[in-house]
Amino acid sequence: MDNFTFYSPTYFVFGRGTENEAAHYVTRFGGTKVLIHYGGGSVKRSGLLDRVKASLEASDIPYIELGGAMPNPRSGLVYEGIDLCRKEGVDFILAVGGGSAIDSAKAIAAGVPYDGDFWDFYSKDMVITEALPVGTILTLAAAGSEGSSSSVITHEDGMLKRGASGDAIRPVFSILNPELTFTLPPEQTANGVADIMAHVFERYFTNTKDVEVTDRLCEAVLLTMIKESPKAIKNPEDYGARANIMWAGMVAHNNLCGVGREQDWSSHGMEHELSALYDVAHGAGLAVMFPAWMKYVMKHDVNRFAQIAVRVWGCHMDYDNPENTALEGIKRLEEFWGSLGLPLNFRELGAKEEDIPFMVKNIGLKEGEHMGSFVPLYNEDIEKIYRLAL
Ligand code: NZQ
Ligand code: ZN
Repeated sequence: MDNFTFYSPTYFVFGRGTENEAAHYVTRFGGTKVLIHYGGGSVKRSGLLDRVKASLEASDIPYIELGGAMPNPRSGLVYEGIDLCRKEGVDFILAVGGGSAIDSAKAIAAGVPYDGDFWDFYSKDMVITEALPVGTILTLAAAGSEGSSSSVITHEDGMLKRGASGDAIRPVFSILNPELTFTLPPEQTANGVADIMAHVFERYFTNTKDVEVTDRLCEAVLLTMIKESPKAIKNPEDYGARANIMWAGMVAHNNLCGVGREQDWSSHGMEHELSALYDVAHGAGLAVMFPAWMKYVMKHDVNRFAQIAVRVWGCHMDYDNPENTALEGIKRLEEFWGSLGLPLNFRELGAKEEDIPFMVKNIGLKEGEHMGSFVPLYNEDIEKIYRLAL
């Protein structure tokens, strides 16, 4: 196990009705004037936004609103949010929605105290060290942004989808009421499932030795997702299933499962090009990219792939030929994601073969540079993996 630091200061408030306590937590974490930031309108339709506003009004906390964060959130709204916060003297941002609203809120929070262009954090890999406090009320278990130190934004100029991070943008509190996810259509639920599982895979496939405790935490999250996801898709109001998935989404990505080990993240890098180019859901893109990546890198450590096949997918261990077991595990993953209605290849996703060279180029690796760490990927590898996903 490698040396590590782990800092996860978010105060989690979990359970039924907890969104009504929003004002209490805003005050507790120092907010005196709030920007409520949300997405395309699901929070209006569900009545959640009205309940949150009522909570703030009952505590005499002034607020302004900015909706419109799109899936794969854009830079334009971030600039607008930064201007608005400065003009109105906002000192707290409350994101209400999924990962996109939360990521957009984090970008605004980082941009307000920063003299330069907020995009510097995303384009130059600058760590965010100062930001307005962000609280979240989560409506979609997926991105894990409610507990993570990262934010992903797409810049409209060139449609570049890039991430930035820093402990300063970890939410100070996150309210997680599984009931708020009851209104999710099956497709969005499934996209979230793929993302949560992908966050585990990015950490699980590592070259670091002696990481049993994090291996086992990863496997627990995956086993939970395999058991609970079909229930939530069949019965969207299954509170128990929604609750387990919601907490699994947080555990998968606040890095509890990833400390002390080298992590990969190349499948996320390849996916971001798909969602930037075709505006597809991040989880759907991951369902296409991950099996292709797994097939490409499997031979690097067949035993690790066989291990997950046995421990998570319940495959029989073929000691004479562990590769068979490893491949069976990947097949079971594809079958599972397929059973949830997720796309598994370019055709099902609506991606095009002729765009592959553009996507490879857009990842932006210079000559001799690579991404990922389980197996370092160079441009020619990335192109082959995209082709495996056709
Ligand atoms: O915009 P509204 O109207 O709210 O509708 C959303 C959106 O259309 C809808 N939705 C959300 N909650 C709902 C609901 N519909 C009905 N009922 C509800 N309760 O679902 C759609 C997708 O929402 P979005 O927020 O885009 O999804 P998600 O949470 O998957 O976030 C995706 C974004 O997060 C980034 C992705 O790249 C993508 O841009 N990620 C962020 C990470 C992070 N900050 O740590 C890590 C991830 O790997 C990921 O990259
Ligand atoms: Zn993700």
